[in-house]
Amino acid sequence: MSNYDILGNIAIVKFDRNTKLSQKKKIALELMKKHKNVRTVLEKIDKVSGRLRTQKTRYIGGERTREAFYRENGCVFRLNVDSCYFSPRLGSERLELARKVKKDENVLVMFGGVAPYAIVIAKNAKPKNVISVELGRECCKYAVENVKKNKLEGKVEIIQGDVGKKVPKLKEKFDRIIMARPNLKEPFLDVAFKKIKSRGQVHYYGFYGLKEENKLRELIKEETKKARKKIKIIKIKKAGEIGKRKFRWRMDFKILN
Ligand SMILES: C[S@@+](CC[C@H](N)C(=O)[O-])C[C@H]1O[C@@H](n2cnc3c(N)ncnc32)[C@H](O)[C@@H]1O
Repeated sequence: MSNYDILGNIAIVKFDRNTKLSQKKKIALELMKKHKNVRTVLEKIDKVSGRLRTQKTRYIGGERTREAFYRENGCVFRLNVDSCYFSPRLGSERLELARKVKKDENVLVMFGGVAPYAIVIAKNAKPKNVISVELGRECCKYAVENVKKNKLEGKVEIIQGDVGKKVPKLKEKFDRIIMARPNLKEPFLDVAFKKIKSRGQVHYYGFYGLKEENKLRELIKEETKKARKKIKIIKIKKAGEIGKRKFRWRMDFKILN
């Protein structure tokens, strides 16, 4: 077995190439024995792909379900692991960002998924409001349910649709914008620059190689110039490995004008 993720009741395993089905079933039983919460074992059979960043899984053992119940940072989430992107590996990222949020901030999460960033922020900080924008309809259904489950109605708003179309229509500007971007081309920074307050902060995720953070710096520099903005880079960090020598980078920057 190469690696696995546990999302509450579901373990998703990426098996080594030549693993036979009988071995997979045996490993599934071992996993369920070792992790008492795990009742379902699925095999990850495809990379995360498409605009909605979904993955395909194959049933290996336990209860036949794709619906996960997951706890993180004092919050609960329900989601379908095949139709919604979700990474438990980003739990510490979410908490790190939540800890930066000051009282009464207006926060926007672009590419919100089932709303883990929005909910972890609203639960662990004291923002005025958090808006989470996500394209996937099914993701948004779960996001709305997750807001209710965490008793954050009135604090977290879910908007279904394309960030490029929905965000420009929002009336307010934001103190903080989290761009939990998919690993796709469009940077959407022009959209963020139009909605961030002066002195506000942007947390931008991009995907580059181990020593390619300069590409990220260049992109931000270019987009900043296009938008006629001035920024101060606060931090740039690796926020997880997404494949062989490919990393999720996060850049935090402040808008100066
Ligand atoms: C990397 S996932 C992040 C999801 C979530 N923030 C999380 O951490 O679980 C990117 C999300 O962006 C959504 N997405 C892709 N293109 C979009 C667009 N143009 N507008 C809004 N959401 C989009 C996908 O459906 C996916 O859920």
